[in-house]
Amino acid sequence: MDASRLRQYLEFYQDLGIKTVYRRGTPAAAAPAAPAAVPAARPEAVPERPAAPTPSLMELPSLAPAGDTLLKIIEDIGDCKRCRLHEARNRIVFGVGNEQSPLVFVGEGPGADEDAQGIPFVGRAGQLLTQMIEGTARKEGMAIQRADIYICNVVKCRPPGNRTPEPDEMEICGQFLFRQLSAIRPKAICALGGTAARALTGSRDGVTKMRGKWQKWREIPVMVTYHPSYLLRPYNEGAKREAWEDLKKVLHFVYD
Ligand code: URA
Repeated sequence: MDASRLRQYLEFYQDLGIKTVYRRGTPAAAAPAAPAAVPAARPEAVPERPAAPTPSLMELPSLAPAGDTLLKIIEDIGDCKRCRLHEARNRIVFGVGNEQSPLVFVGEGPGADEDAQGIPFVGRAGQLLTQMIEGTARKEGMAIQRADIYICNVVKCRPPGNRTPEPDEMEICGQFLFRQLSAIRPKAICALGGTAARALTGSRDGVTKMRGKWQKWREIPVMVTYHPSYLLRPYNEGAKREAWEDLKKVLHFVYD
């Protein structure tokens, strides 16, 4: 692979948050070590350490192809079995809404209702998200419906028992989220909850610390706010107010 291609890959991986590329074949650490004591008189007896295999393109996550489209990404996902989340899923939940939307909401991963229907944010949390988008827009004098916006998740298959996606699952599925965002190129992104915030910003800070301030994914502004599931829990009145404030900020930034 030439240097400029390698640089392209490394930059792409950095955006994906991938820090380690695993090599198939004999790991370097497991390669036969040179014998502890080699008689000086017979240097030719020292076994040559086998050259580390060069990772082939086939083993690397694909770069976003030029002229990428959501359709192409769906085709590439196919009947995905790249991580363990495929084992219990019913449907791959790719994304929904206006494919030219200037605003994209990113959640964590499908729940039971989403897994059954193949559409993100259709359960209780989804209904709250719809109310939040449409209610805030109405109050702010904007004619915006949920269908005008694009909504997707970091992972496309339901984590069993709605657990938080594991880092390797986020890395593997993250390549498709980033291709979605690159294909749509929205004016802003709203990250719902800690998993989406971490996937997009790479920061380990909590939502409480990150929310309300603009972050960035590549050059696109990202607003982090609370996940609607969190807002559904009792005694979260303060967080609800803050989420509404965050949403107002996003809607005005994108649509004014
Ligand atoms: N929670 C998410 O993060 N995404 C969904 O699609 C539904 C619930």
